[in-house]
Amino acid sequence: MDKLVIAIDGPSGSGKSTVGKAIARRLGYLYIDSGAVYRAVGRKALDTNTSLEDATSVARLANLSSITLEGDPDHLRVFLDGRDVSGQIRLPDASHASSVVATIPEVREAVVEKLREMARAGGVVMDGRDIGTKVFPDAQVKLFLDASLDVRARRRCEEERERGRDVTADQIREELEARDRRDCERTATPLVKAPDAVFIDTSDLPLDAVVERALEIARTRSQT
Ligand code: DC
Repeated sequence: MDKLVIAIDGPSGSGKSTVGKAIARRLGYLYIDSGAVYRAVGRKALDTNTSLEDATSVARLANLSSITLEGDPDHLRVFLDGRDVSGQIRLPDASHASSVVATIPEVREAVVEKLREMARAGGVVMDGRDIGTKVFPDAQVKLFLDASLDVRARRRCEEERERGRDVTADQIREELEARDRRDCERTATPLVKAPDAVFIDTSDLPLDAVVERALEIARTRSQT
């Protein structure tokens, strides 16, 4: 199969990363979690006591930081200025900070540049919020995944509990709603489905079935 770019967008808990990793594994592609890059910027702002509202300073951090992803899809590590921050970027404060810094247009420009550089060699699955609309508008395969708020909250709750965080479903639901609002209502490349993306509602669909459907689309696209 040609070295395609596969773009997967959707809100938190829609199944993007599970599906993205499985596709990358099956095709031997690089998997890039673009949210991890925004999370690393948010982490750095918190760790350096930079106000999340100070757009100029946060954009400077984004431009000057080295953020790299290493390892295969199942063991992806995130490095910020050479330090492994894979755990710290998943903490609740970093989740919140990432969605705030992601509203800053200059931060988005810096991250988009980093993401394009990471995918330079092709043969990549990238997931996020603006991959099919902004980062790779010419991606050969574009998927937009979504699921009901209840299902997404349940998935996130399970993940958080696996990480040892003592959370309630209501708490996660509130966090998700707040992040959804920021992701969808920001003026800088908000979360929207690209017109040519295939929409898949994963609420009642096993994620294996979504992977098979995506691989079928990839096969068709690589022959055209
Ligand atoms: O996918 P995630 O939950 O790890 O993403 C963290 C935050 O980063 C999310 O709230 C919105 C932002 N984000 C973005 O704006 N654009 C992307 N392509 C990926 C993530």
